[in-house]
Amino acid sequence: MANVVVVGLLWGDEAKGKIVDYLAQDADYVVRYNGGNNAGHTVVVDDQVYKFHTVPVGILNGGVSPIIADGVVLDPQVFAGEIAELKERGVDTGRIKVSANAHVLLPYHRLLDSLEESSKGDKKIGTTGRGIGPCYADKISRTGIRMSEFIDPEVFRKRLNDILKRKNAIITQVYGGDPLDADAIYEEYKAYAEMIAPCVTNTARLLFDASQACAGIVFEGAHASLLDIDHGTYPYVTSSHCVAGGACIGTGVGPTMIDRVIGVVKAYATRVGEGPFPTELNDETGDLIRKCGNEYGTTTGRPRRCGWFDSVAVKFTAAVNGTSAIALTLLDVLDQMDTLKICTHYEIDGKRVREFPSDVEVLAKAVPVYEELPGWKQDISGISTFDALPANAKRYLARIAELVETPICVVSVGRKREQTIILDPEMLEM
Ligand code: GDP
Ligand code: IMO
Ligand code: MG
Repeated sequence: MANVVVVGLLWGDEAKGKIVDYLAQDADYVVRYNGGNNAGHTVVVDDQVYKFHTVPVGILNGGVSPIIADGVVLDPQVFAGEIAELKERGVDTGRIKVSANAHVLLPYHRLLDSLEESSKGDKKIGTTGRGIGPCYADKISRTGIRMSEFIDPEVFRKRLNDILKRKNAIITQVYGGDPLDADAIYEEYKAYAEMIAPCVTNTARLLFDASQACAGIVFEGAHASLLDIDHGTYPYVTSSHCVAGGACIGTGVGPTMIDRVIGVVKAYATRVGEGPFPTELNDETGDLIRKCGNEYGTTTGRPRRCGWFDSVAVKFTAAVNGTSAIALTLLDVLDQMDTLKICTHYEIDGKRVREFPSDVEVLAKAVPVYEELPGWKQDISGISTFDALPANAKRYLARIAELVETPICVVSVGRKREQTIILDPEMLEM
């Protein structure tokens, strides 16, 4: 069986959750490798809507073992809530495993996230406010608390006391905020630690052994390539390795063990939070896309910024992920459009470019150059084969594949599993 990475090709919310769920039907493991509960992955099965933030979406399939790997930052309070909700809905949560190396997100991370954002004024990033940046900052500065320490009550107590002294100094003296109470945090969080302890294990070893035994593993990317800490639109990014390479860093699975990378991207573009977005539409067309695509954040409920498909950005991210093929999602959202636009180039300082600029100041100056294609003006949400798609929809797909120099293996025309058109079954084989 295969090891397949599913990764977002723009700024998040590309419907990675739907594609992972589709692949999970034939997989043995689904592994979250980066980020935390800043992610919001929606999956619709039999008219039931599930929203995931920390738990891998594969949990909905009885044969799948869900893994939260080393590269994730886990908020125990959110995790406990998500597990309780899934149990209430009859999902078996007993199979989930959490890496002993995953970092623990605690209340001071959340508080510092909001204090840092407020202090930035108009330079704010527009974070989800979940404490992600401060938790990864602790990890990188080697002061974070890992799962193995969190589930040992004595070690956790000692580490928390030491860390909170320093964090409270920053909270009160730098930001003028109110200090947090170590006793209160310990009392609440030791209950979460007891609940999580049986799940904690060496997940890198587990995945290596599974791979040797030819298991099928789906790596569930969170956020997306242009939010990657190194390859994204820095500083308007998240704090983890979102690109496909992050699947190796965040799990301990070596690069030679990855068989395929599926890049997920919408038939148009969206972004939540601040930062440049060349094809953004601040007009009626943007509003129509938001309405038809229900473009409101799964995690924060914020309206998503909407725009035309950007082939300059996607050509870059398809390359940086070593994308084998693309899953193009939410094509049905464009059903009502008379004309569609695809950005083929940027104009920057009077020059036409097809390279995605790495400097955010340069990207902010990019004026999109568009090619227009006719719309199909027809409801495609019930179509289940490529052949049955309207000619103009096929033309739109072919032009995108040509411009981003990557084949399309899946087209999604609705939220449900069955609203998935397979163009290249081999790419989806587990
Ligand atoms: P993720 O973060 O990449 O997993 O994406 P989100 O779940 O945050 O956002 C994608 C949204 O689009 C979800 O509400 C999905 O249910 C929905 N969705 C997925 N595929 C399709 C599709 O093909 N058509 C439509 N209309 N909605 C879709
Ligand atoms: P999924 O997995 C969309 C964005 C935030 C903000 C920036 C930094 O559902 O695609 P953070 O809280 O991570 O420090 O915020 O990153 N962001 C996302 N946008 N989908 C996501 O996840 C996101 N995760 C982070 O809006 O601009
Ligand atoms: Mg999302």
